[in-house]
Amino acid sequence: MQLLDGKVVSAAIIQQLKSKVDDRKQKGLKTPHLAAILVGSNGASETYVASKVRHCEQIGFDSTLIRLDDNISEETLLQEIEKLNQDNDVDGILVQLPLPKHIKESKVIEAINADKDVDGFHPVSAGNLMLGLPSFIPATPYGIMLMLEHYNIPTAGKHAVVIGRSNIVGRPMSVLLSGQSKYGNCTVTLCHSKTDDLKKHTLQADIIVAALGKPGFLKGDMVKEGAIIIDVGITRVEDSTKKSGFAIKGDVDFAEVAPKSGYITPVPGGVGLMTIGALMTNTLQACERMHG
Ligand code: GUN
Repeated sequence: MQLLDGKVVSAAIIQQLKSKVDDRKQKGLKTPHLAAILVGSNGASETYVASKVRHCEQIGFDSTLIRLDDNISEETLLQEIEKLNQDNDVDGILVQLPLPKHIKESKVIEAINADKDVDGFHPVSAGNLMLGLPSFIPATPYGIMLMLEHYNIPTAGKHAVVIGRSNIVGRPMSVLLSGQSKYGNCTVTLCHSKTDDLKKHTLQADIIVAALGKPGFLKGDMVKEGAIIIDVGITRVEDSTKKSGFAIKGDVDFAEVAPKSGYITPVPGGVGLMTIGALMTNTLQACERMHG
């Protein structure tokens, strides 16, 4: 069993981005600029957005954080997005999800200029990805592809089973793994909550991506010897032994599955850390496309 270490890989990606930005600055090219909108004060969202801003500083990107009140109207939020769309200095825009119930997420995502959609959630980005055209790839599936690339894990011809069909993880993951790229060319089965006999599928998998959001769901008797296990779960569960009062749990029962696996991502310290590098790579790309 080999651990796929998100700490090591994300640090390497951040370092690469930093030298690219240093290089841009020396050549007098534009500094990439990421703008994030945070509505309300959801604990997890606060943490994620703070980490995104901190990484911008570390890499040398400019960043803007716009904080809006929980009870802001949808219309005001759309106006804020439009200001960022019009601002030529802003290369990437993200609106942290989830949003309060009275705001329609799809409307907000569609309001973002697709050229600045560094989350890859806009229908234009999703469509381009599905067609195999250049696209912003959502951070989690992109981070997983960067992980496979870093460890040079062969995927062509392998059977990948993706559990979970969300628009931001499972579905784009299935497209990437089945696509014609160096770390694609898999035969993909996309499983979800309505799948009959899930174990029948996972037992056949060479690669399993668990992205269903149920802590400890994937057990040892559900995987075949030597399988590559990618754990996307990041559920917060109460843990009084931790200073924060909670622990982060993955979708994989690590103690049972790790000894059987060929490669496995830990939680925490796996896929979660990769998403920042993926988002920042998209932001640099947006800047390069718009400003050279
Ligand atoms: N909420 C959870 N993950 C994400 C993400 O990747 N982007 C945004 N904008 N919100 C999220």
